[in-house]
Amino acid sequence: MEKGTEKRGQWASNFGFIMAAAGSAIGLGNLWKFPYLAGTHGGGAFVVVYLLIVLFVGFTIMLGEMAIGRRTGLNAIGAYKMLSKKFTWVGMAGVLSGFLILGFYNVVGGWVIKYIVQFVMGGVQGDSAAFFGAFISSTAEPVIYALLFAVATALIVWKGISGGIEKASKIMMPALFVLLIVVMIRSVTLPGAGAGLEYYLKPDFSKLTPAAIVAALGQVFFSLSLGMGCMITYGSYLSKDENLEKDALIVPFMDTAAALLAGFAILPAVFAFGFEPGAGPGLMFITLPQVFASMPAGTIFGILFFVLVLFAAITSSISLLEVCCAYVIDEFKWSRTKATWILSGIIFVLTALSSLSMGPMSGFLIFGKNFFDLLDYITANILLPLGGLMMLIFIGYFWGVDKAAEEIEQGGKFQFKLKGFWNIMVKFVGPIAVGVVFLNMLGIIKF
Ligand code: PHE
Repeated sequence: MEKGTEKRGQWASNFGFIMAAAGSAIGLGNLWKFPYLAGTHGGGAFVVVYLLIVLFVGFTIMLGEMAIGRRTGLNAIGAYKMLSKKFTWVGMAGVLSGFLILGFYNVVGGWVIKYIVQFVMGGVQGDSAAFFGAFISSTAEPVIYALLFAVATALIVWKGISGGIEKASKIMMPALFVLLIVVMIRSVTLPGAGAGLEYYLKPDFSKLTPAAIVAALGQVFFSLSLGMGCMITYGSYLSKDENLEKDALIVPFMDTAAALLAGFAILPAVFAFGFEPGAGPGLMFITLPQVFASMPAGTIFGILFFVLVLFAAITSSISLLEVCCAYVIDEFKWSRTKATWILSGIIFVLTALSSLSMGPMSGFLIFGKNFFDLLDYITANILLPLGGLMMLIFIGYFWGVDKAAEEIEQGGKFQFKLKGFWNIMVKFVGPIAVGVVFLNMLGIIKF
């Protein structure tokens, strides 16, 4: 297509939008971060705090982003620029976050493909920790797998909004839920599953430290894809005939359901076979392969599980890439083809570096972290909460809750039932909660 002649995409249906937005939200964050965080930070106590933050802060920001996106019909940067030039930088920080998150997300996506291949060939035999360590610290192999994942992401984004992202999400998301439920049923019916359920759910309020609350907040942002303009971008492709308030409730609900299911799918199996739940990536790539190796028909469950993880990861990585592409398509009139492949190429440099930072470049540390961990830390703990906080301040005190409500109500077509609640959340509860946790994390105040 010629430069600048491309028509802006639109979702073909509201169902498609929900699948795409839930697809963005449900990702590696749900499957490998949530169960582990819940287990280490006091089980049911953490789950309760997490649910409260989703309800109060998550829903509030989700609806705000969707409203900004649909109102302007633009990418994250263009949207803020149109509504208030002073906030353009918030959009910029969001697009930057997209680049940085993809920098490490592609690497983990590559690991997932490697594990599918490995399980098709019979699974991981012997010492799974040594196997994982040797794989991720080698030079070429993980970079090649990350490239495969990045190309798969780019192919979908290249096909456009309804023809690529929506279509892929409509197939992968329902499949993911089916697979997750199958794996969960297997896991909770294993003899000895009870110990895992106890670890996961038994509330231990003594473990609910400030660090646990910071972790819960960061996890809500990352898991719901908030604070970086993802829902602005996706919202910008949504028709005015759809009920934003309803959509902004359904998406966090689905994301939370997936996170809770992931805990039921993973932790009981880990305990049933007498393993200790390892940290983050270790749980998924070291402990679970051992669990599958000791389980009847474990290879089949291993394949099912890693295919499910791949679906979750890809429907998230496409949203990250779309945030970046939408910007250059809207603002610089790049064709979708040019945007997709050039930006994917730039992102791949970050990806290769973060893969290598676990092997040949592991001696190269910035602020005491390797490049991979640095990207994860800066985005989840700093850029996303900052982006979310600024969005609340923007709606609450600059653009105005009433303007946002107009977009949600569409001249009376929809009744904005939670308007009073949302108003208080946007202006007071949200900014204070996010601000306090954020300042605590930066060490400026201590609680
Ligand atoms: N929500 C995704 C996950 O849980 C990650 C993500 C973050 C995607 C931000 C888009 C934007 O894995």
